Amino acid sequence: MNKTKTILKPLFYRRKPRRSLSLLQKNLLKFNLKNFLFDKKKIKKKKKFLEIGFGYGENIINLAKKNPKKVIIGCEVYEPGITNLLKNIEKENLKNILIFPKNIFILLNKLEQNSIEKIFILYPDPWPKKKHYKRRLITKVFVNKISQILKKKGIIHIFTDSEDYLKKILAELLSKKKFLWMDKKIEKCNKRPNELIKSKYEKKADIKGNKKYYLKFKKIC
Ligand SMILES: C[S@@+](CC[C@H](N)C(=O)[O-])C[C@H]1O[C@@H](n2cnc3c(N)ncnc32)[C@H](O)[C@@H]1O
Repeated sequence: MNKTKTILKPLFYRRKPRRSLSLLQKNLLKFNLKNFLFDKKKIKKKKKFLEIGFGYGENIINLAKKNPKKVIIGCEVYEPGITNLLKNIEKENLKNILIFPKNIFILLNKLEQNSIEKIFILYPDPWPKKKHYKRRLITKVFVNKISQILKKKGIIHIFTDSEDYLKKILAELLSKKKFLWMDKKIEKCNKRPNELIKSKYEKKADIKGNKKYYLKFKKIC
């Protein structure tokens, strides 16, 4: 195993699609994805948002429509989700979305410091079993990385329906005093920001009757 794989493995667990990709999906990845691939040279001077783990991409489409002058960078490794986003980008004829179809930790090392205005992390995999906690995305290392690429006064939105993960997220984000928790109290975290719509995961959480938490942080230094 080479060195890169050794470093990334503990941080990254790929969800396997339930069925193999259709011919249409394979063609989208082979022919269409290249037109929307993240390229940092193309977006140097533009204002940028980043969504991490966009799933089926509903919110990326919504953000891109509402913010036509901004570039929305979406990072996701789940291929059926990437193909769904590609279909909708073409359907809506959107020109301001770029996709990074690999592990977010690779992208975080490519992005310039203080370059992103807003980061969206909607329902990161909760990994509810204790033995799987180490697979969770939001860790010290991750928070350190996102604090570097986010601009001063930049915003992070994190949603979760896991009370246990919620505690961990708050502990990690607030540990270094780099972020201000905008709502300050759990009871106030029950309203989804207007600029965001219900994602597929959120609809499933609603069906299960799970309580949802909408966290918002501002980078203060
Ligand atoms: C629970 S799903 C939520 C998807 C979507 N945000 C939603 O709300 O419907 C979490 C997503 O994060 C993606 N993900 C997990 N770890 C990742 C990583 N290291 N890099 C990129 N994407 C990742 C997974 O593939 C999955 O699609």
